[in-house]
Amino acid sequence: MPGDFERVVVGRSWMRGTLQNVEIGIDQDGRIRRIAKDLRSSGDRVDLGEMVVLPAATDLHAHFRDPGGPEAAESFATGTEGAALGGVGTVVDMPNTVPPVTDRERCEAKASLAHGRLAVDVVLFGSARSARSIRSLAPVAGGLKLYLSPTTEVDDGFDPAHLPEVLEAAAASGLSLSVHAEWPAAFSHDPTPPTSSEDWNRARPPAAETVAVERVCQASSALRLHIAHVTLGKSAIRIAEANFSCEATPHHLLLATRSDDSALRKTNPPLRSETDRALLWAEFVAGRIPILASDHAPHHANAKSLPFDKAPSGVPAVETMLPLFLDLARSGAVPLPVVIAAAMERPARWLGLPVGRIAPGHRANLIAVDFRSRRKIQGARLRSPAGWSPFEGRYAVFPHWHARDGVTIVDGGEWVGRPTGRVVRPEYAPVAPPTRIRTA
Ligand code: NCD
Ligand code: ZN
Repeated sequence: MPGDFERVVVGRSWMRGTLQNVEIGIDQDGRIRRIAKDLRSSGDRVDLGEMVVLPAATDLHAHFRDPGGPEAAESFATGTEGAALGGVGTVVDMPNTVPPVTDRERCEAKASLAHGRLAVDVVLFGSARSARSIRSLAPVAGGLKLYLSPTTEVDDGFDPAHLPEVLEAAAASGLSLSVHAEWPAAFSHDPTPPTSSEDWNRARPPAAETVAVERVCQASSALRLHIAHVTLGKSAIRIAEANFSCEATPHHLLLATRSDDSALRKTNPPLRSETDRALLWAEFVAGRIPILASDHAPHHANAKSLPFDKAPSGVPAVETMLPLFLDLARSGAVPLPVVIAAAMERPARWLGLPVGRIAPGHRANLIAVDFRSRRKIQGARLRSPAGWSPFEGRYAVFPHWHARDGVTIVDGGEWVGRPTGRVVRPEYAPVAPPTRIRTA
């Protein structure tokens, strides 16, 4: 019936293993209603020509530093615009802000602060530091985060004696729990200050991850457990055996330790040796690491130019994550279906949100990509006030167009939207990411 769609998006899309010309019919609520070769609709047409239309990505791990004061290297406004420009339509914001999100009141205050300033949708995670925090946060948070070791704005270690009660409370809350899995008792006691990523990898070694992963994998299968930023292929294998979820970041997949670098490449967990990086990469390419997440952790360049041991840990990444992986798919280094599963489908299903697929009933959060138009990443051109990137000079395919609920927010690679993003919570129980996918 002509005119029965509010808007029709026309382009090529990845359907049943091949690229096909499609028309995507969107209703007035911004949901995808129908997909066909020709919808014969008189609704508004957005003709993307030869461009490839994909679902917008969902990033399970970002630090938007809001609240964080005027000195903070990011805010909800800049962080979500960076996400939009990088093709990310939904972002999890972590609770290690100033102050940290440790109870219901702080979570609600953060949601009010975000209101009217979001370019894309955000899911607010609360701190799972104690069973009491978890119970207070359960009715309002979108998920939970537990730091087993000190990291940015988490100064004191977590007492492992509390782990069983925290895991139990998290399971009872019904929320998913993301764990920063480094076990401080396995850190090095060498007092020599680290001066490079190679030293940092010795100070917080792979064994610290292996121990932490083993401990949390003892959790009850009732817990919706996700392990953040795994750095070792064998961690991903162990987590899959236990039927839990995990993510890897672009920096752990693409960058290895060096003995001559600066604190720009200091992050927690540390970058690993080239051998470990290659093993992690092999698991990812095979589709056995379910989720790609950025761990977008911006810090100003002047803080990162402090001596290595004094500088904060973390790298900005939300705007470059998908563009880097689209370029890697373009060159054949990783199959496009692996990227689509890891960046779009599985994180959305894990959060229980109707995004991440071009399918009827899903929100029309879509991007369009021209794989011939690649450009080098320049930190100074990224939206984050941090103004630098650990991927400076690498090629990336930035989305040409991005729509939220069918409404254009990025066009010609430029932000053209209004801050209509919302704080969202899971709409259905998280679906554990399968670790096998079809690549053809
Ligand atoms: C993160 C940050 O700066 O907030 N830093 C990091 O090195 N990854 C915190 C974290 O995720 O550990
Ligand atoms: Zn972390």
